[in-house]
Parts: sequence; structure tokens; C-alpha cells
Amino acid sequence: PTAQVWDPCCGSGHLLTTLTLLHRDRITSVLGSDVDHAALELARKNLALLSKHGMTARANELQARAERLSKPAYLDAAAAAQRLARRLASGDGSFDYNIAPADVFDPAQLRRALNGRRPNVVVTDIPYGEQTAWHGPDAARGLDGMLNSLEEVLDEGTVIAVTTRARKVRLTGPRRPLAWFRIGSRAVILCRIASRLQHRV
Ligand SMILES: C[S@@+](CC[C@H](N)C(=O)[O-])C[C@H]1O[C@@H](n2cnc3c(N)ncnc32)[C@H](O)[C@@H]1O
Repeated sequence: PTAQVWDPCCGSGHLLTTLTLLHRDRITSVLGSDVDHAALELARKNLALLSKHGMTARANELQARAERLSKPAYLDAAAAAQRLARRLASGDGSFDYNIAPADVFDPAQLRRALNGRRPNVVVTDIPYGEQTAWHGPDAARGLDGMLNSLEEVLDEGTVIAVTTRARKVRLTGPRRPLAWFRIGSRAVILCRIASRLQHRV
């Protein structure tokens, strides 16, 4: 099975880029959205690395910098980028990614960002209150509010993985996760979009 992945709080796209790098053979498309326009610019640059040409260009840039400054750490980074570029070049090279602004609490904005795409996996790293906070007029709705608006725009069966830097991912409404676990300093919950019928009962 292949995954069309969406991160609706994608920030710099670090999570999406790493995930795609690790599972490039199974991820066919990636969508990132966020309210922070500066972060979206970074996300575009990070995801652009995932094409053969993007990573090769970055490896060459790092190599030139390493030679100019003769710093061993830069040489290691350049060598790592070369290895990643070779790995990306061994795939078929086609990869679809899109980055769009959208407030995760507003289903109309989410639909515009989706633009007809139908992701089957949502992975997102929500604000945890130190350097990052919920933004926008509906910020107080928090995680449950985000899940409510995602539910309005996603297909039945879509899996949503939510992570945050905390001991627990806290749901305040009646929703219960399918599973939850911890990885290092992060907590993760998995939810699935239920059928509309089931939802109404
Ligand atoms: C923990 S950071 C995500 C970091 C991201 N995973 C990365 O790789 O850079 C949380 C993100 O949620 C975004 N955010 C906050 N309120 C939002 C909202 N109402 N709609 C969409 N994104 C929002 C912030 O702009 C921030 O980028």
C-alpha cells in the first residue's frame, strides 16, 4: 500500500521531509499546510531536497563550503548529503509535493489547501507551548478542534497520527485514540476517521 501524506501543522516541513526520506518507496505524495508563511517557505525548500536534483545540489553546496572552510564537520555533512542523493537517484525520481497556507481549525481553508487531493495518512506534530503555540482566531479549540475540522475534510478510514513533546497527547472531548505510545520525549496518538453514519449514531 502507498501513502498520500498530509501534515496540516507542517511548520518547516522537517517532519514531512524526514518521513518521506525514510519511506520514499511507499509515499507517493506529500502535502504540508500551516498558518505560518515564513515556515511554509522553509518547508518548500526542505521538500525540494527530496528530488534527485535537489539533494545533489545541496550536497555540492555543502562540499564547496567544506572545502572553503576546511571544517571536518562540513565534510561529513557533504558526504551524508551525497549518500542521500545517491539513494534518491536509485528511485524513479517522481515525487509530488505541495505546500499551502491553511488554518487547521477552518475546514474551508483546509479544503482549499487539499485542492481535491485525498490523503490517506495525516501525520502532525502539534504545538507544545514552549517555542510553539496554536495561532489564529480559533486557537483555543486546541487538539480536539483540529480533529473536528480534519474530520470534515478527510475520507473515512484515513489514519491520523498526532505527536507532541509531552508525556501524553491530551484529548479533552469524547474521542478516544485507537492507540497511543511514547518515543523519546514525544507522545503519539493514532486515530482513524470513522464513517459519517457511525459518527452520527
Ligand atoms: C511543533 S510545530 C511543528 C513543527 C514541524 N513538524 C516541523 O517539522 O517544523 C507546530 C506548528 O503548528 C503550527 N500552527 C499553529 N497554529 C496553527 C493553526 N491554527 N493552523 C495550522 N497550523 C498551526 C505552527 O505554526 C507550527 O509550525
